[in-house]
Amino acid sequence: MDEKRKVIFSGIQPSGELTLGSYMGAIRNWVELSETYDCYYCIVDMHAITVRQNPADLRRRALSQLAQYIACGLDPAKNTLFIQSHVPAHAQLGWVLDCYTMFGELSRMTQFKDKSAKNAENINAGLFTYPALMAADILLYQTDLVPVGDDQKQHVELCRDIAIRFNGVYGDVFTLPEPFIPKTGARIMSLTTPENKMSKSDKDPGGCIYLMEKPEDVLRAFKRAKTDSDTENCVRFDPAAKPGVANLMQIYSCASGLGFEEIEREFEGRGYGDFKTKVGESVVELLRPIREKAEDLLKNKDYLASVYREGADRAAAVAARTLRKVYKKVGFVER
Ligand code: TRP
Repeated sequence: MDEKRKVIFSGIQPSGELTLGSYMGAIRNWVELSETYDCYYCIVDMHAITVRQNPADLRRRALSQLAQYIACGLDPAKNTLFIQSHVPAHAQLGWVLDCYTMFGELSRMTQFKDKSAKNAENINAGLFTYPALMAADILLYQTDLVPVGDDQKQHVELCRDIAIRFNGVYGDVFTLPEPFIPKTGARIMSLTTPENKMSKSDKDPGGCIYLMEKPEDVLRAFKRAKTDSDTENCVRFDPAAKPGVANLMQIYSCASGLGFEEIEREFEGRGYGDFKTKVGESVVELLRPIREKAEDLLKNKDYLASVYREGADRAAAVAARTLRKVYKKVGFVER
């Protein structure tokens, strides 16, 4: 235990409610990683304001996200759980890295292109430099591995390029991070448009299951889930031909622990209706303890405050070391 453990950093924006996709694709793996790594899991509220947010909702969601992290099994004693805006070093290093990130690089980011198309009335500078702030998040903790979904790989690679550029000028300041796509990471798709990732900012709420959603709503959403337009009416894992069914199988497999063949066998000769009900029920049972625990935690604001304060203290101590080094390297006068 004495040797230095590798560092993991990841974060989710409180720009929407956490979804079944956030759990099955990310948080569930984070819990496992906390056994072997030194883990920082952040609520990235500063990233969230690159798109206009209602202040009361943002505040409520950040707290609720913390409660849900804990309810999903992230132990605050074993992980550093914190809120990005509580550690000013993120903004401070973010600015420095802005000056080591090229306009051309930022212009190539697919997320920027997507988001600016969707928010044509608010293409602000923060949305553009978002990846430099994300690089600051990662580099402050001398992170080795960044568990992210496919859509964030490009940002982690840019972070690495920024770190290489900075180290090239000033010597070894930053550990070079790598994206870490866990083997078991399930990519959960929308229930209504299974070509798209299940997203907390989904325009079609029926496509998305929230971790805090009531059981009856979860069941209803699964009953309405899109299966496939083929006439086969048979539960078979074939993502290309049957994306809706494959997604439901993926979800059921995560919730039940069963493999795809076992699932195919279970539903042999039965229609999609039965299948969807069963998947819905398994998700209800999976989410029940998480929702109940999170609801309990949300009644205890003092406890949550103690968690985010302690997390911010721990994070700030580590971040300060990196920031001090960076300030010195770039030539700021020491105070
Ligand atoms: N950009 C990430 C997303 O939208 C969130 C994020 C911000 C992040 N900072 C990070 C993820 C640092 C990993 C590491 O999903």
